[in-house]
Amino acid sequence: MNQEKSRVLAVEAHGLVKVFGDNRAVDGVDLSVPQGVIYGVLGPNGAGKSTVINMLATLLNADGGSAKIFGHDVFANPQVVRQLIGVTGQSATVDELLSATENLVIFGRLLGLNHAAATKRADELLEEFDLQDAARKPLGKFSGGMRRRLDLAASLIVQPPLIFLDEPTTGLDPRTRNQLWETIRRLVQTGSTIVLTTQYLEEADQLADRIALIDHGRVIIEGTPDELKAAAGVTTLHLGLKSEEDADSAKELVEKLLRVAAIKTGPTDISAPMTDSDSITDLLISLRSSGLHLAEVSVQKPSLDEVFLALTGAQNMEEGN
Ligand SMILES: Nc1ncnc2c1ncn2[C@@H]1O[C@H](COP(=O)(O)OP(=O)(O)O)[C@@H](O)[C@H]1O
Ligand SMILES: [Mg+2]
Repeated sequence: MNQEKSRVLAVEAHGLVKVFGDNRAVDGVDLSVPQGVIYGVLGPNGAGKSTVINMLATLLNADGGSAKIFGHDVFANPQVVRQLIGVTGQSATVDELLSATENLVIFGRLLGLNHAAATKRADELLEEFDLQDAARKPLGKFSGGMRRRLDLAASLIVQPPLIFLDEPTTGLDPRTRNQLWETIRRLVQTGSTIVLTTQYLEEADQLADRIALIDHGRVIIEGTPDELKAAAGVTTLHLGLKSEEDADSAKELVEKLLRVAAIKTGPTDISAPMTDSDSITDLLISLRSSGLHLAEVSVQKPSLDEVFLALTGAQNMEEGN
């Protein structure tokens, strides 16, 4: 039974579509999010991230496709699904005139906690989000970062099994952002699954176990951060020679053995795209037997930025045809 249960996907969506007028904002999105992960939905502004999240979180009807949350149909059983999820960005329901504590207590009561439990939970969350000092201030006096933390705290009064975070760190200062990352990691350690949207490649790379890269309402590629980087296929080999005199011969050898164009990036430095990692062993042996001595060898994976450009650029070119 337990095994059976753990195999149920936290999110399973097929062919999700949302049309606004003549804009297919979401154009056939499939998503499979296993339990216990941080899943990143990455894409530029207007890609359709929020629209996908809002459909999954029962906040928006779909024009096509199906979605299940822990096996429950989102569109047929929205009430059941709502019990299993938390969504950030509940600022509309937070009262400006009340203090942070009062707001959290009210949320707790709404979620069925008694007064003592709601007060205790509010105190815990204010501490967790470093808001104790601000606890008594009315929300109208909160900074943007404090406000964001309070929104997240409000969505975590009862820690749901699945948490949707729609661009939780956009516009935050680095310190608050790092704090939020820590909280997100802790939520996963304590049993929740996180679906997080972001425009920040670095954020997805740092946090997410898997990423769906979306653009123009479609999933362009899905996988682990490493798989996405490998898909862009621009891993680079860097060689540092001990002696300047050897650099040209080494460059020739690299080109011959790896069958790629290499470049000299400094008097003793050579870089080359690495398409076949197996050939590196042969290269190193040849360099040694040719008496060309290395000071340094390194392999650099592409950044997610490069992946993003490579993949969204390719898609845009197809569209131009
Ligand atoms: N309520 C709405 N009415 C009309 N168009 C919308 C609405 N919400 C989003 N859109 C459009 O749908 C597309 C995707 O938007 P959105 O899901 O907000 O993207 P993202 O969250 O990735 O920035 C955009 O072109 C946006 O203008
Ligand atoms: Mg959005």
